[in-house]
Amino acid sequence: MKQMLLSLACVAALSAYAQKFDGLDLTPQMGWNSWNRFQCDVNEELIRETADAMATNGMKDAGYQYINLDDCWQGRRDAQGFIQPDPARFPSGMKALADYVHSKGLKFGVYSDVGYQTCGSHVASRGHEFQDAQTYAQWGVDYLKYDWCNNAGLKAEGAYTTMRDALHAAGRPVVFSLCEWGQNQPWLWAANIGHSWRTTTDIYPCFDGTLDHTNWQQWGVLRILDAQKPLRTYAGPGHWNDPDMLEVGNGMSANEDRAHFTMWCLLAAPLISGNDLRHMSPETLKTLTDREVLAVDQDALGVPGFVYATNGSVEVWFKPLSGGDWALCLLNRSRDAKKISFDWKHEPVADDFSRRAAHFDTTTYSLRNLWTKQPVGDTSRILEADIPGHDVLLLRLGKM
Ligand code: GLA
Repeated sequence: MKQMLLSLACVAALSAYAQKFDGLDLTPQMGWNSWNRFQCDVNEELIRETADAMATNGMKDAGYQYINLDDCWQGRRDAQGFIQPDPARFPSGMKALADYVHSKGLKFGVYSDVGYQTCGSHVASRGHEFQDAQTYAQWGVDYLKYDWCNNAGLKAEGAYTTMRDALHAAGRPVVFSLCEWGQNQPWLWAANIGHSWRTTTDIYPCFDGTLDHTNWQQWGVLRILDAQKPLRTYAGPGHWNDPDMLEVGNGMSANEDRAHFTMWCLLAAPLISGNDLRHMSPETLKTLTDREVLAVDQDALGVPGFVYATNGSVEVWFKPLSGGDWALCLLNRSRDAKKISFDWKHEPVADDFSRRAAHFDTTTYSLRNLWTKQPVGDTSRILEADIPGHDVLLLRLGKM
């Protein structure tokens, strides 16, 4: 009895420790964020209309949950130091906005930064971390993206731990999304601090390119994808590599959008749409909401895919899925269409990280094209395919 009381006391003491909120984000977070499309052009109508769109256009049913307000929502701090939203853009206040988003069955996120100022030069959280976390909890915030501008030489691990502890002290479960751009290798230290960490600089809607600014760059899809390749073993349920938010619907071609989206699913990446949900083409909506493709991202194993082979401009990616299935993705990085042929029996696909092997020499798998919904035979015959430029062939392999 004495021992039992002792261990109960230990449990109580342990749970009083500051920690991230466990049990959240067991599959990669899905939602929307204002930045990629709207930058600082945000206000409460946009957020309400975006919530309306997500709740009714099929995205909510497909699993999208978070409506996240990025930079530029902030006004000033009041006399007691409590942060206020910009009164011109958010006249009804943040509690009312969170209530509205919740009334649609969705969750609400905000953005801040470790420094005194955000990247967009608005008031940020340095020195007010506990007060801000308390304010977010009062508003009903479910997600915090926490940026790294103006960090003034802070140690990243310490700065993000402070906000984690502040969120924990405030008591409302929050998905904590670290946005430190991979500068201090967050994959090595952030698994107990946040639910995801950005791995690179910002994305822009370009499939294969780099955009130079005076003292920073934005990267296109392929360059970001390449930076993820060494990082797969650091991710898993509740702690994900974040290759940045989606640019689907923001100006790339339909096949580039499809390839971008598919690769983020192969990576088990957070899927935060970044387009205007109120006005999008049927094609964009179709890409964002394909259930079978989303199931690759949201698979319960939570194991990111890997490059099995490279043949010229075509990369062969595999991702182990639960129930013994696999996803296979052939990514054509070039602008020209490519013909491929894949002789399963001679491809010893094995993954030490997940301890899975496909054994195509002894096991036959059925093949389904996830985008076209066509069955394409099985692994007893050589796979022959044409892949258009900047596009993918995505197959699900199921045991027969
Ligand atoms: C940084 C982030 C972006 C966005 C902007 C906002 O660049 O990486 O995702 O949040 O700041 O100013």
